[in-house]
Amino acid sequence: MKIIKCRDYEQMSRVAADIVAEEIKSNSKAVLGLATGSTPEGMYAELVSKYKNGEIDFSEVVSFNLDEYINLPEEDVNSYHYFMNQHLFNHVNIKKENTNVPDGNAKDIDEYSRRYDEMISDAGGIDIQVLGIGPNAHIGFNEPSSAFKVGTSKVKLKKSTIEANSRFFESADEVPKYAISMGIGSIFRSKKILLLASGKEKAKAVYDMLNSEIDPKIPASILRIHPNVVVVVDEKAASLI
Ligand code: F6R
Repeated sequence: MKIIKCRDYEQMSRVAADIVAEEIKSNSKAVLGLATGSTPEGMYAELVSKYKNGEIDFSEVVSFNLDEYINLPEEDVNSYHYFMNQHLFNHVNIKKENTNVPDGNAKDIDEYSRRYDEMISDAGGIDIQVLGIGPNAHIGFNEPSSAFKVGTSKVKLKKSTIEANSRFFESADEVPKYAISMGIGSIFRSKKILLLASGKEKAKAVYDMLNSEIDPKIPASILRIHPNVVVVVDEKAASLI
């Protein structure tokens, strides 16, 4: 696991965008695993700039997102479909048919989840998976639990995650209670993982990821046994390491 410490959010975003851009430059058909949330917003803005100045081309890039809320319309401003369109897809030349965000409105979520993992395998697997980390060390929506979930599945969000995400909604009551998320196995099969963390509220999660036992109660701890992980953290998120 390689750790890159950055001064602040802006530098973290630039370093992360450079890593993703290198992946696309070395393979025009790169399969990207993408995350939503506050952490990667700056990285997406940097990638959009790189596209606009001709540095990178998304025309053959394929993407798979980590997760989506269940039962939230795709056009809802808080859906992850909406987020991806706003922050990346609407501003670069990625083909909409090459973008995949889990369908939180699928009739049969279990069947759809199996298919989502198959779609990732059929695309040749993820070349680089971008991850944020929750204050409780969740990755994707793999919440602390007694066992690691392998494949994509329906997950119940922890109260702490609902509270953390309520900043985007009118109130915590409006945050969906369930999501569909890639599992730890789906994430683990990625050839490379790029985890970003910014801010002091992530410091403990970053510390635990690096120092705890490998334990499903600290979901990100499993990343220590993946062969190709880069962690890009700003000073505040790195304050305990
Ligand atoms: C988002 C995701 C989540 C977030 C995490 C951190 O697709 O899978 O694991 O990465 O909740 O969220 P932010 O970046 O908003 O602090």
